[in-house]
This record gives sequence, C-alpha cells and structure tokens, in this order.
Amino acid sequence: MAETNFENVLYEVEAGAAWITVNRPDKLNALNRRTVEEIVAAVRRATDDDGVGSIVLTGSGAKAFVAGADIGEMAELSAEQGQEFARFLQVSLDAIEGARKPVIAAINGFALGGGCELAMACHVRIASDNAKFGQPEVNLGLIPGAGGTQRLPRIVGRGRALDLVLSGDIIDAQEALRIGLANRVVPADDLRAAAADYAKRLSGKSRVAQSRALEAVLHGADLSQSDAMHLESSLFGLCFATEDMREGTSAFLAKRKPEFPGR
Ligand code: HXC
Repeated sequence: MAETNFENVLYEVEAGAAWITVNRPDKLNALNRRTVEEIVAAVRRATDDDGVGSIVLTGSGAKAFVAGADIGEMAELSAEQGQEFARFLQVSLDAIEGARKPVIAAINGFALGGGCELAMACHVRIASDNAKFGQPEVNLGLIPGAGGTQRLPRIVGRGRALDLVLSGDIIDAQEALRIGLANRVVPADDLRAAAADYAKRLSGKSRVAQSRALEAVLHGADLSQSDAMHLESSLFGLCFATEDMREGTSAFLAKRKPEFPGR
C-alpha cells in the first residue's frame, strides 16, 4: 500500500490498534481542511490494514483533543463557502463513523465545536478527567456544522443537546459521563493505557461481528424501527455464514476460549 505522508497527523500501529493523533498542538489541534483530509486518509489506511483491529483517535499535547474547526480558516468564508465547508466536514466525519472497525476517541483535553463533533463521530469515547466538552459555536455567531446538531441529540437526548448548543456551555468530563457523552473517564495519566487496553479487549472479539454490529446500529439509526429490524435480522443471518460464528459457538460449547479468524 502506498505510504501517505501526513503533515498534521501522526499515524502508528501498536499492538493491533492504529493510533491517529491530530498534531497541531500550537493551535490546540484545530481542524483545518488539510488536517481533516489527513484524518480521513489515516482512518482509511487503518481500515485497509488487516493487521489493525481498531482505531484510536486522539490529540497531541496535554491540553486539547481538538479545540474546533480552525476559526482562522473559517473567518473570511462567504455563505456559499461556509455551506461547502460544513458539507466537507460532515462527509469527512461520516466516513470516520462509517469505518467498519471500531473507532475509539481518546479525549485528552478540549473537545469543542468540531472537536466535540469529531469525538461524536467515533464509536466510543474515553475521556481523561481533565477533558472539556462543548459546542460553543453560538459565541462565534455560528451553529455546529459538522453534524453536531444531529449527533449530539442522538447521543444525549434533545433536551441536553439544546442546552449545550444554545448556551455554548463547556462541561467537564464527569458531566459528559453523566449525560452519556463520554463512555468512560480515567485519570489523565492513564488515558493512553486505558484506550490501548480497551482496543486490546475489542481485538479479542469477532471482527466480522463487530463490523456487522456497527452497520446495524449506525445504518439502522437512519431507518424506521421496522426497517431497522429487518436490517438487524439480515445482518444477524449473515453472521451464520462466517467462520467466526462457527468458532464462537463451538468454543462456547467446548468450554474453551474462541480464536476468531476474523472471517
Ligand atoms: C483556530 C485556535 C482554535 C480554533 C484555539 N486556537 N482554538 N485556532 N481555531 N478553534 C489557537 C489560539 O488562537 C491560540 O493560537 C492557540 O490555539 C492556543 O489557544 P489559547 O486560546 O491561547 O488557549 P487558552 O487560553 O488555554 O484557551 C483554550 C480555549 C480557546 C478555551 C480552547 O482556545 C478557545 O476558546 N478556542 C476556540 C474554541 C471554539 O470556539 N471552538 C469552536 C470553533 S467553531 P495563538 O496563535 O494565538 O497562540 C467550530 C465549527 C465546527 O468548530 C463546524 C464547522 C463546519
């Protein structure tokens, strides 16, 4: 596979997990266009690599996961360009959410605006105890434009989402945990180990089943309940055609640990 040279993103594979680190610490990892393109390319690289079971997305430095879209880059946009920029970010974050491998956000500080939206496009969010979340766009005369008005209510409920989007309030990690925006909170010094440990636990499971589960949950969310039930039963049925399912069920019956081939 062709190597991609990243300017604003670090990419490394460690113990079967691809670590993608947004690397603009002097700008609190703010998302300019190039950085977003690189994150998506890095997620594609990880998805295409059979040696990778899951993907961890984090920010460099001690202060920020991602402090938002790059305000400098947005400041001079026209209405048309603003709409195009929002669409670009939406499609990019959809591609991350659409990855058929688990994507874990390891949130190591500010996750604001587009940073919170990026974290919400990930499948699981593990936050350090000093992380801060918010959609502060109203302070800039803006609204969330990278999926925040849609993903936030789906994750925390409409009332809590409106509270955050209308006030621009920034909440701490414990509050994010309480409202379900963060899945887990760990001491800042333990974040990397906690994310690595979680990724390792996921890699012991059936990859095909994880991929089908992602499809059922994420694609199903856009369907009526009855269509989503059909999707679920189809995907459930497809599992029966996999070696992983034969291995998982026979290992259970033989009272041994499964060794999933990932097919
Ligand atoms: C560009 C940013 C930035 C951002 C921080 N910086 N956030 N640059 N875009 N979103 C830069 C600062 O300008 C500064 O650069 C450096 O990073 C350090 O930031 P400070 O402000 O000096 O740090 P601090 O005082 O600790 O404050 C941290 C902060 C603050 C509270 C996170 O930086 C902040 O409020 N940032 C903006 C947060 C925000 O509004 N995000 C939403 C953006 S809109 P210099 O060069 O001066 O050192 C958005 C829309 C998404 O995300 C949808 C788009 C379609």
